[in-house]
Amino acid sequence: MKQWNAESGYDCWLEYRTIDDNQLRETYSKYCSRVEVIGETALVESARKELQLALGTMLGLTFQDGRVPLEGTGIVAGTFDSSPQFASLATEYNIADLGDEGYIVHSSDNGNIYLLAATDKGVLYATFHLIGLLQQGGNIEKLNVREIPSNGLRMINHWDNMDGSIERGYAGNSIFFRDNRMIAETGRLRDYARLLASGAINAVSINNVNVHREESKLITEPILPDVARVANIFRDYGIRLYLSANFAGPMEIGGLETADPLHPDVCAWWKDTAERIYRWIPDFGGFVVKADSEFRPGPFTYGRNHADGANMFADALKPFGGEVIWRCFVYDCLQDWRDRITDRARAAYDHFMPLDGQFRDNVLLQIKNGPMDFQVREPISPLLGGLTLTNQVMELQIAQEYTGQQRHLCYLVPQWREVLEFDTYAKGQGSTISELTSGRMFGRTRGGIAAVSNIGDDLNWTGHDFAQANFYGFARLAWNPHLSSEQIAREWIRRTFAHDAEAERVILGMLLDSYSIYEAYTAPLGVGWMVNPSHHYGPSVDGYEYSKWGTYHFADCEGIGVDRTASTGTGYTRQYHSPMSDLYESLESCPDELLLFFHHVPYTHVLKSGKTVIQHIYDSHFEGADRAAELLESWNSVERKVDSGKHNRVRERLVHQAEHAQEWRDQINTYFYRKSGIADAQGRPIY
Ligand code: GCU
Repeated sequence: MKQWNAESGYDCWLEYRTIDDNQLRETYSKYCSRVEVIGETALVESARKELQLALGTMLGLTFQDGRVPLEGTGIVAGTFDSSPQFASLATEYNIADLGDEGYIVHSSDNGNIYLLAATDKGVLYATFHLIGLLQQGGNIEKLNVREIPSNGLRMINHWDNMDGSIERGYAGNSIFFRDNRMIAETGRLRDYARLLASGAINAVSINNVNVHREESKLITEPILPDVARVANIFRDYGIRLYLSANFAGPMEIGGLETADPLHPDVCAWWKDTAERIYRWIPDFGGFVVKADSEFRPGPFTYGRNHADGANMFADALKPFGGEVIWRCFVYDCLQDWRDRITDRARAAYDHFMPLDGQFRDNVLLQIKNGPMDFQVREPISPLLGGLTLTNQVMELQIAQEYTGQQRHLCYLVPQWREVLEFDTYAKGQGSTISELTSGRMFGRTRGGIAAVSNIGDDLNWTGHDFAQANFYGFARLAWNPHLSSEQIAREWIRRTFAHDAEAERVILGMLLDSYSIYEAYTAPLGVGWMVNPSHHYGPSVDGYEYSKWGTYHFADCEGIGVDRTASTGTGYTRQYHSPMSDLYESLESCPDELLLFFHHVPYTHVLKSGKTVIQHIYDSHFEGADRAAELLESWNSVERKVDSGKHNRVRERLVHQAEHAQEWRDQINTYFYRKSGIADAQGRPIY
């Protein structure tokens, strides 16, 4: 059952508001009054239904079933081969290069709008493209759009457990599971699939990468029919379902005495398992595997390496067209804080580089964007672009685990844009992360981007209404990594809120500033982890300092930062290609914002900005907290221009954020004042 109400935020960016502007309404009605959607497949039917809903709500237009050939002009949707009338467009738009997911949206001289693609999925994407334009008040008279995704795999990873909880979930409980069962009600899942397809997401893994006892059974017969039900819904929207698998499954649920990936019984067990899954879900995407990571089982137990582990799964899935997404988040989580040689940042590269080229074609290594763990500021993982012979997927985190947990406003698209534009120099200048994840850089057949979901069963899906923008933004960047943060934000605002120039200006400013504000009052100069242990919310400068997790800042009375240089430190800088390795190695050239990630410096060290490190810490925290308070003021200024339900929800969170930013400011400033004994040049209150 749909739980819609106008102010709940449930519809996210698919809220189809009535178009009030008469002129726009007239123009749109001229083009959209008649609709012909050619074809009968489930995907085409999804497109037809979406047009029906969108045009009905926005323009009050109804069409019987959208199957009748057009009389007069209107919208025509279908695959190129569905009608001879598309032949000339197929040539004009070079459909051979559109691939399985590309599409065109074309306004013809005779007044038709064509939504065409080589596949049904492309037709669905074209449909959402046109709907998005209508929502934004765009010009549809001379459309000449040709879109092809940059990344083949555009994936959402859910960290949902079967008891309904979500690891790092900040928006309620799971939409898939409750009480160790799959939720039977499917209306919400269908709406979720619509949201995903509107952003052209084509893959979803539904359970946590930490696969515990109940979730291990998702691949067994009693539950598979229920999993298949979800896969059926996703399939109608072009989305493949994946499951996170437990490496020790053969032992924990299979009754075997080993999970050794080279043991014939283990291989046979996974082959049988794959066969069983594909009986229920013929287009099953494959497995996501977290192995030998944070106490999860893995090949190391048997003296095997990660290629042995991943290839075993790959061989089981291969006959059915499935793939293995093997995570590279492998590091020593039982470190001794006294040990300054072992460096967690090095771990993924050290483990996986020697295996480059040893993975099967249907294995993709999933690598977090940074070498640590989704901190507000980290350098790019050098494994991305280090590997040249292996399929790579970059993993981002939409869930705001370390960036305010969806109570703070933190629009992450600017961070992701920096990541995507980073030049690895893997093949000389211009070897950006976006080129790499597309697979093009090294001629790989597979590649892509995945992200940890920020979705839960809160009525507005993401807790903070503005966190919807991160979900939307991820999808947009996965499709086209070159879109600007501003363009994505504008699209989201126009599709989510009523059109109003002033509201748009204010909300845009809030979104675009929010990441730098969050960084300013939390983590200075690339030092991370100053959070409360385990739940990771709120300031605790030494929260992870004397722990086993390999997460240190080494602050003492003289200085702070981790020496990761090759000359005097852990040698991490050497994992980058030149010239990035030299850039980070040298104190002179290392960018300020990452200084403490790469170097241990005295508090009196002068930054490129001209400030000392300690003064920078004070200034950024005072400014950051002030700017957080301004976010609230900005929001209050548009109170009358935004639905009151949305306004109230966001305001509550911004009030909290402003207070919490002060807590961050005061704890961090006080800590470093007490450690360093150096006073703030401006004499502001520090405790
Ligand atoms: C982080 C996070 C964990 C998660 C892990 C992972 O450490 O805090 O909850 O399981 O990442 O990515 O596997």
